[in-house]
Amino acid sequence: MTSNQSLATILAIDTSCDDTSAAVTSGYTVLSNVVASQTELHKPYGGVFPTVAKQAHKENIDPVIKLALKRARVKIEEIDAIAVTKGPGLAPALEVGIKKAKELAKKYKKPLIAVNHVEGHLLSVLAKPKNRNQKQEVHMSFRAKSRNLYETDTTHRKPNLGLVISGGHSDFILVRSIGNYERLGWTIDDATGEALDKIGRILGLGYPAAPVMEKLAQDGKPQAFDFPLPLTQRKDYCLSFSGLKTFARNLVEELESKNAMTKQNTYDLCASVQYAVFRHINYKLSKIISDYPDLGELWLSGGVARNISFRESVRKTLRELGKQNIKVRVPYDKRLCTDNAAMIGVAAKHHFEDKTFVENIDKLERKPRWKLN
Ligand code: KG4
Ligand code: ZN
Repeated sequence: MTSNQSLATILAIDTSCDDTSAAVTSGYTVLSNVVASQTELHKPYGGVFPTVAKQAHKENIDPVIKLALKRARVKIEEIDAIAVTKGPGLAPALEVGIKKAKELAKKYKKPLIAVNHVEGHLLSVLAKPKNRNQKQEVHMSFRAKSRNLYETDTTHRKPNLGLVISGGHSDFILVRSIGNYERLGWTIDDATGEALDKIGRILGLGYPAAPVMEKLAQDGKPQAFDFPLPLTQRKDYCLSFSGLKTFARNLVEELESKNAMTKQNTYDLCASVQYAVFRHINYKLSKIISDYPDLGELWLSGGVARNISFRESVRKTLRELGKQNIKVRVPYDKRLCTDNAAMIGVAAKHHFEDKTFVENIDKLERKPRWKLN
């Protein structure tokens, strides 16, 4: 145990989907973060194939943990606790990480912390690099004067708003304080990344399509195709992408029938799809900001938060609302947006301090549909 309890050293494991990841964190500092991606294995299926994911996790888990400890220069005996993603995620994938975490917790007599994957994404913006000279991506909508970017006031005099947008989630989460969350809005069908990937697939961009779409969109016109704005009749903060997906499919079919799927039309479609998807999220975000006028910071996380146009669209919304006082916070490295175990270690920090450990290690079970609230 380290001298200061808030600096507990944690070995974190995440196998919620198609990345096998282990990390060592000390407080919010990331000492190591190893991710073995399975993207290539799933490419032929155009999506994550659960049994393939499980098998790859089984093969990768030991070397990934070993490398994470090595890179952090920490021996497993020196770890204060083990944290593992309990859910949400793919059941067979979650199982592998949980089994390993239980095994290690028992063998080395360490407390075990079960972390919600969405809480991991949400708090990934608080992660600090080991070396402050490392490339940092902390974007603030305006410069905090003498304030240390990493010194987040965890008592949160003002609530913060988190946007977790990934391949599996699209949640607006009000953060009253660390550990005190309220899910304000969510998707009623596909998650944002899932929708972008599916539309990208229609455009023949492979898997995962969203990062390719971001590149191609740079040469396209965002308003070349006029997509609808979903759910404007609903007063809530929920999202829906199925209408945009259908609209895109019909548009592609129409262009194909006219032999008009030119390169430029593909670029324009990519830019227009992104524009439509982000406009929808920003529309709901504006509603939340109007209804919660006292927000302190806006936290962007999850795989889609890697997208630069998305980040820019959010800043534009804040400018238009005259809300530049709301600070935009993103993870210091884009790799912390997509699935990784460092975010699980960061989220485990407050559970360690509150001593919310798994009581009976043998009884810990995966929770594939675990909601964060
Ligand atoms: O957070 P993540 O690794 O996994 C989940 O928890 O779901 O997010 C993966 C998702 C995928 O849908 C992927 O296509 C999307 O994030 N993504 C992006 C970008 N990079 C990854 N979406 C938009 N722009 C990107 N640059
Ligand atoms: Zn995730």
